[in-house]
Amino acid sequence: MTQTVDVDAFVRFEAAGWRRAGLGDAYHRFFGPITAWAVEPLLDAAAVGPGTRTLDVATGPGYVAGRAAARSADTIGVDIAPEMVAIAQRLWPDVAFRTADAHALPFDDQRFDAVVANFLVPHLGDHPRAASEFVRVLAPGGRLALSTWDHPERVALLGIVMEAVRLAGAQPPADLPAGPDFFRFADAAAFAALLRETGLAEVTVQRVGFTHRVKSAAELWDGVIDGSVRTAALVRGQPDDVQRQIRVAFDHLVARYRADDGLELPVSVKIAAGVRPT
Ligand SMILES: C[S@@+](CC[C@H](N)C(=O)[O-])C[C@H]1O[C@@H](n2cnc3c(N)ncnc32)[C@H](O)[C@@H]1O
Repeated sequence: MTQTVDVDAFVRFEAAGWRRAGLGDAYHRFFGPITAWAVEPLLDAAAVGPGTRTLDVATGPGYVAGRAAARSADTIGVDIAPEMVAIAQRLWPDVAFRTADAHALPFDDQRFDAVVANFLVPHLGDHPRAASEFVRVLAPGGRLALSTWDHPERVALLGIVMEAVRLAGAQPPADLPAGPDFFRFADAAAFAALLRETGLAEVTVQRVGFTHRVKSAAELWDGVIDGSVRTAALVRGQPDDVQRQIRVAFDHLVARYRADDGLELPVSVKIAAGVRPT
């Protein structure tokens, strides 16, 4: 069954979800070392270097902004969750951070040479609106680079949970607002079209693949559930018996990734980039 997306309800849900107590620290512990893999390719795709006026949207704990500043870029990071902004500011005290929604950026037109967003795409309610905001604040000749997860079968850490939910026959809870498909822009053609339709030129989509190791199935389960918003709501919103069935299916599915010392999980990421024409 396809539900109609209520953009405003979904954006409110995401914004509230990322403010959940303890989420930022759980995200930093588990997802931080994973999303970090995409940071340097993302900054390269946006040609961030010394003096580049760089906006990191959905900075979370500030990884991209911190690395941009290390490249001597003139950097600011924004996030919809004040809790994330506080963590980023603690980790990167010399970088500027503030609260902002990607759908309505509080910056003048053409203010930046580079706009980057690492793994914001699966959390947006209105992709065209956000993309046009990114392009609005880019100077002519400036570059936009966005990353997102690849198809779930190539991202075991998320794919296993999704497959376990499906095997348990779990339906989205009634209070989970329908949002855009989490993996929609894993499709390279759709991702490229998003950038082209905002008027960007020289659009490219590249894939970055790596293997991420965790110690145990429990670490993976707790990391994904404690450090996520939509996935956590999908699982935690189920009756107890369905949650138990999801966990049983998860423990079964995870077995194929066992290695000598824990689990070896393939991860794949798509990065789309383009240039604002001069
Ligand atoms: C998956 S995390 C990515 C964090 C970080 N960029 C990284 O590389 O790990 C998604 C982030 O997007 C933020 N976020 C979600 N919706 C947003 C929006 N509409 N505008 C700005 N930030 C948003 C969340 O608060 C969260 O910090």
